[in-house]
Amino acid sequence: MSVEPVIRTRLTELLGITHPIVQAPMGWIARSQLASAVSNAGGLGIIETSSGELDAIRVEIRKMRELTDRPFGVNIAQLFVRDPSIVEFVVEQGVRFVTTSAGDPRKYTQQLKAAGLTVFHVVPTLSAALKAVDAGVDGLVVEGGEGGGFKNPRDVATMVLVPLVASKVDVPIIAAGGICDGVSMAGALALGADGVQMGTRMVSAAESPVHSNWKDAIVAASETDTVFLNRFGRPGLRALRTERSERLEREESIGLNELGDMPAVYFRGELEKGLALTGQVAGRIESIESVATILEATVRECHAALDRAHAMLGRTAL
Ligand SMILES: Cc1cc2nc3c(=O)[nH]c(=O)nc-3n(C[C@H](O)[C@H](O)[C@H](O)COP(=O)(O)O)c2cc1C
Repeated sequence: MSVEPVIRTRLTELLGITHPIVQAPMGWIARSQLASAVSNAGGLGIIETSSGELDAIRVEIRKMRELTDRPFGVNIAQLFVRDPSIVEFVVEQGVRFVTTSAGDPRKYTQQLKAAGLTVFHVVPTLSAALKAVDAGVDGLVVEGGEGGGFKNPRDVATMVLVPLVASKVDVPIIAAGGICDGVSMAGALALGADGVQMGTRMVSAAESPVHSNWKDAIVAASETDTVFLNRFGRPGLRALRTERSERLEREESIGLNELGDMPAVYFRGELEKGLALTGQVAGRIESIESVATILEATVRECHAALDRAHAMLGRTAL
């Protein structure tokens, strides 16, 4: 009889999930097709709101209930959803877990917690982490600058940020940025995280709704094939290297209009029409796999990596 590998952490206990693996919220991408696949595979699917399309999101949350009976969450991307009724919106949908990002953690935390939700805030620095803990969050998504999407212009790598934050706070930590498989997950757990969040790997997944041109570009990418944009503006952005993004890389600051024609990029595969937000870890992604395969392989490889590390300890003479 084979025994399915399990990783139990504060995150699996708190959220009632099987594997401490969270799918990143991503505008237009993190909808029910992808998120239900993640929840059904034992991770935590998250529905985005950064598209600002709250009517569509309402339908997506209803679909989640049809597609899975497992837990899932919603992200409130504060920069994009400034509508003060967003908290009522999320509470009315019966959501139990929320991540807030790109904004002040004091804005929604108490209101969400008073309604009985579990709240994690996304942080790119230690000071942001301490501020979020002060605001009363239940946990943190600690996001390194190698990840795809919106970034602090003063980016810090996951390898530096996760152990730094873990050494200063007691709340559970989800590590994000650069994680795509079992070895990177094992690394994140060793650094002090209780779970991981995958963005770019989930963009590339079979159930991701983006055009195959983007998925193929992730598979073809080397580790140097992303650019960091807006280093002297705000917010910073990490996107796939294309002719267009390479040109923008030289600009001191760019406007959010440079995200371009997102439907064309995301769903028609016209990658030069805007920015395909992608992390450096694209350089480690070698094939398009189903979410179930990604999660199963990640947990199995994470066990193997930690066993290997443990075996090295056993060989060390005292
Ligand atoms: C296409 C894309 C869109 C994203 N949109 C959001 C978002 O709406 N809200 C958010 O908190 N993070 C967003 N992010 C960041 C992810 O949540 C995640 O933390 C990041 O992708 C992790 O790094 P990785 O790409 O190396 O896995 C986005 C990332 C990508 C790749």
